[in-house]
Amino acid sequence: MTATQRDKFDMLTLHKVLFCIFGCMLVYDYYNTTTPVIVRVRDPKFSLLGPENVNEILVNDTYDQLIDMKNFSFLMNPQPCLDYPAGLLLVVIIASRPTNFKNRMVIRNTWGRSVDSTKVVFMIGESSDVAIVQKIQNESQIYGDIMQGNFVDAYRNMTYKHVMGMKWVVHHCPMAKYILKTDDDMVVNSHELRRFLAKELSPWGAKGLITCQVLEHAAAQRSNRSKWRVSITEFSAQYYPTYCAGWAILYSQDVVPRLLTAAQNLPYFWIDDVHITGICAQMIGVTRTPLSSLILNKRRSNLLTMFGLDSVGPFLFGPPDLSLDTINKIWKAIPE
Ligand SMILES: *[C@@H]1O[C@H](CO)[C@@H](O)[C@H](O)[C@H]1NC(C)=O
Ligand SMILES: *[C@@H]1O[C@H](CO)[C@@H](O)[C@H](O)[C@H]1NC(C)=O
Ligand SMILES: *[C@@H]1O[C@H](CO)[C@@H](O)[C@H](O)[C@H]1NC(C)=O
Ligand SMILES: *[C@@H]1O[C@H](CO)[C@@H](O)[C@H](O)[C@H]1NC(C)=O
Ligand SMILES: *[C@@H]1O[C@H](CO)[C@@H](O)[C@H](O)[C@H]1NC(C)=O
Repeated sequence: MTATQRDKFDMLTLHKVLFCIFGCMLVYDYYNTTTPVIVRVRDPKFSLLGPENVNEILVNDTYDQLIDMKNFSFLMNPQPCLDYPAGLLLVVIIASRPTNFKNRMVIRNTWGRSVDSTKVVFMIGESSDVAIVQKIQNESQIYGDIMQGNFVDAYRNMTYKHVMGMKWVVHHCPMAKYILKTDDDMVVNSHELRRFLAKELSPWGAKGLITCQVLEHAAAQRSNRSKWRVSITEFSAQYYPTYCAGWAILYSQDVVPRLLTAAQNLPYFWIDDVHITGICAQMIGVTRTPLSSLILNKRRSNLLTMFGLDSVGPFLFGPPDLSLDTINKIWKAIPE
């Protein structure tokens, strides 16, 4: 062999080796994503509880105060947790809007179906439309799952809604081990979530856990064309602290009263996820744990509806902003 021939041969071998390694990685990745995924945290800041060290919840919250509202009251106040004095695994609080009757109905018929270990409650504000008020009263009488506060249901009142949910948990459902805050245009893989909480985390609960899709170095939007525009007086820094995307946030029991206390004592800021899981969480010193591959993105949700669950692997939550049709389709693709 001449020197150039040897060089060519070596290059060819190198390419073959690289090709094999790359191929193996693809195959490994495929099998890896189809086996159960654990929250991979190198140095977890939360701890899991057992029967001997459950959370002790101290409630010190003024019932009729909601941030800067001094005359807050629940206009509708469901009590699904009263029957579970010994505790229940999960309570789901879903931000909804008075007019979103269909979203609530789809959720009740799909992932939000009531089971013993999970209770689902919808959070709304007030509507000034008499016909809608009537319809909501009917709905609440039938399903008993509507939580309503005496603030105007408006975009910039989102933080009232989220903090109201935490207030309700602390006063009316403190025995829930985990609290999921989500929106009414989302899919939650509730079978998998219960399995995840009880098996991969702990049926006894956890301490110091906030987990979600973590957002880092997000800039405060200053353009007045942005839906998320905030002025310098609303939020002065250029970047938000690390926070959780608001469409699915999982809290452990102990974190909610502490976040509530922080939120009750800080000035109102209308972007609820930034405020609660960013500013308040930083104040109480709780780290946000990313759920990474356990959150379904748009691409994987398309794969799921076309090819079934095996094509995407385990997940806990769907992507946000789903149509009702897509919620139904995704739910149908998830086996019991
Ligand atoms: C309860 O909260 C009030 C007002 O925030 C505070 O003055 C008081 O010390 C708190 N009590 C306990 C036991 O933490
Ligand atoms: C509410 O329920 C009552 C009786 O069940 C019914 O007559 C009425 O039409 C309902 N109103 C709305 C707005 O659905
Ligand atoms: C009570 O709260 C409402 C907003 O829900 C407000 O419009 C009203 O002025 C408040 N009343 C008092 C007495 O603070
Ligand atoms: C809620 O939003 C409305 C409209 O944006 C505003 O007028 C009201 O003051 C806000 N706050 C409460 C507590 O309702
Ligand atoms: C939009 O923002 C620019 C500066 O960023 C400002 O000059 C302009 O007046 C604003 N327009 C409106 C309608 O607020």
